[in-house]
Amino acid sequence: MCQPSRRMLVTSALPYANGPIHLGHMVEYIQTDIWVRFQKLMGNDCTYVCADDAHGTPIMLRAQNEGITPETLIGRIWQEHRRDFAGFDIGFDHYHSTHSDENKTLAQGIYIKLREAGLISEKDIEQAYDPVKGMFLPDRFVKGECPKCGAHDQYGDSCESCGATYSPLEMKNPVSTITGATPVAKTSRHYFFELPKLQAWLSDWIRTEGRLPSQLVNKLDEWFKEDLQAWDISRDAPYFGFEIPDTVDKFFYVWLDAPIGYIGSFKAYCDKTGVNFDDYWKADSDVELYHFIGKDIVYFHTLFWPSMLHAAGYRTPTAVFAHGFLTVNGQKMSKSRGTFITAEAYLNHLPAQALRYYFAAKLSNRVEDIDLSMEDFVQRVNSDLVGKLVNIASRCSGFIQKFFDGKLATLNADHMAILAPYQQSSESIARLYEQREFGHAMREIMALADQANAWIAEVAPWQLAKDEQKREALHQSASLAINLFRVLMVYLNPVLPDMANQARAFLQESDWNWQSAQTALENHRIAPYSALFTRLEMKQVEAMMTENAQAVAAQPQRKTETKSVTSEASKVTEATQTDFVPEAISEEIVIEDFMKIDLRVALIVKAEAVPEADKLVKLTLDIGVGTRQVFAGIKSAYSPEQLEGRLTVMVANLKPRKMRFGMSEGMVLAGSGDGGLYLLTPDSGAQPGMRVK
Ligand code: 2FM
Ligand code: ZN
Repeated sequence: MCQPSRRMLVTSALPYANGPIHLGHMVEYIQTDIWVRFQKLMGNDCTYVCADDAHGTPIMLRAQNEGITPETLIGRIWQEHRRDFAGFDIGFDHYHSTHSDENKTLAQGIYIKLREAGLISEKDIEQAYDPVKGMFLPDRFVKGECPKCGAHDQYGDSCESCGATYSPLEMKNPVSTITGATPVAKTSRHYFFELPKLQAWLSDWIRTEGRLPSQLVNKLDEWFKEDLQAWDISRDAPYFGFEIPDTVDKFFYVWLDAPIGYIGSFKAYCDKTGVNFDDYWKADSDVELYHFIGKDIVYFHTLFWPSMLHAAGYRTPTAVFAHGFLTVNGQKMSKSRGTFITAEAYLNHLPAQALRYYFAAKLSNRVEDIDLSMEDFVQRVNSDLVGKLVNIASRCSGFIQKFFDGKLATLNADHMAILAPYQQSSESIARLYEQREFGHAMREIMALADQANAWIAEVAPWQLAKDEQKREALHQSASLAINLFRVLMVYLNPVLPDMANQARAFLQESDWNWQSAQTALENHRIAPYSALFTRLEMKQVEAMMTENAQAVAAQPQRKTETKSVTSEASKVTEATQTDFVPEAISEEIVIEDFMKIDLRVALIVKAEAVPEADKLVKLTLDIGVGTRQVFAGIKSAYSPEQLEGRLTVMVANLKPRKMRFGMSEGMVLAGSGDGGLYLLTPDSGAQPGMRVK
């Protein structure tokens, strides 16, 4: 274990500055923090940096909705993120923002290097443009009907119903989700990073042993089978980001300067501490560089990012470590189900150490989802941390205080021999931490705790305490038990830094490193024991869930930045973990605008499923002055039988639209979102044809 110290730079993905940190995020920050703490305990020179990802359309629009500048918004969110990370003991060496001077200089410098290397091309492209808002629309800000299957209410990049991918301009009846306007096609000049020119270099890079988890290499092989495409790195004004040098009203796409934010954060750290920046980022740097990321952003970190670094003359990552998503009680995190749990709500009711331990117990180095099952969480944490670990110290420390004036014995040879195998486990546990096999490491440590408890039960110090003749045996056994507890706490220090600090205070030691497990604490005074961890109760979890549901319902809707890349294969990894929350109110209209819409009470006289369309039901509606045929995208929520004979509300003066299955002469009204679909119905007594106003 006495290797020369390694120099390492470690990052976690940068969270967007437009929403709260939630427990899905925390999987990654806890995983990274455990690994970094382990490296530091090993004596390695390991630096951990991160930052808020502050640019892009969603942040710009959210600030507009709140009536504040983007700078004010990202400043506020930065404080909230820092508070939540601190609450979970995430020990960043520096936490920055991508909207910083360092990052601007770096991003523009890298771009110029790429341009000098002949890797930037220009092309006019046609995109969806919102004529009311006066801006180009990211794909996710357009909704409409799928050009392939006609499914309603689909996003502008892909159809959830048939899986087709397309551009928003190919959609039928597209609308801007910002203003409701129909997007128009507009051309503008875009700037591209010529990734294909680096294909040969990149193909070797990703195949370097240890660079990526093997599951990812297979995925990348699939991407390589299709030819790589040039990457569009520009966005038109208005956009919250950095201007592209030598252009007018062109900005870097958020995903260009986001990973550069890793370097920007480290640069700010260097300026603060005097560490030599070039040692870490020059092309032939011998410092190890590791990125921890989620499986949804592999494409950016394994194709674009190393290519940009290489082409601009920087070093590339030593390895990229990807983890899976968090499910809660076996299901995708969801706002409507109340399982989209914010870090803030968790910390208001439960200890950070419990989640750190539970995630550690579930994490491996594979790209697998992990589940937070609330009952299992309470049971597992209580059983391991209270029943197995803390129990060792709490059962034996009282004897040291009562009979030996708080002083541990010098262990005899027999007791040293019992301690030895616990100390010898150090190497295998260290290997598991190094390999990010935290779950396996926790099982080894808890197996040692089980052995320690079995030994204590056999020796039964409480029996020895009854016999004055057995004081020495009592002193030895209680002192050994405290030493066993100490070794286990050293091993758990990366996972439970707060408990380890409390344990050190109890043991009256100033500092620990990984080697501390190899010594024994002898002839040494310890402090009286006070509880290191309190049992969790299900009612704490219930209170947390209730508070969380209320807080999440009160948040504005958050749209995630589209991770738009050209390869279809990448779509597989692009799931987002958001669900329904109320949308922001649309732009103001005057009463005359509203009065143009002729809303009528309608009786559904006939409802028929459209077999070729997953979402559509064909409705025949009686509106007093005649009947109308409407295709409604409500099949997922209602069967035709449930609809016939029911009153609803329709837009009666909507221009008829020709659909694949016939004309649609209006629209029925329903509350919809990711939380479900609810057809509007007037109170009983309403008559077909009544105007709704
Ligand atoms: O997916 C996300 O949440 C991005 N904000 C991650 C950026 S990581 C890095 F590239 F900056
Ligand atoms: Zn479709």
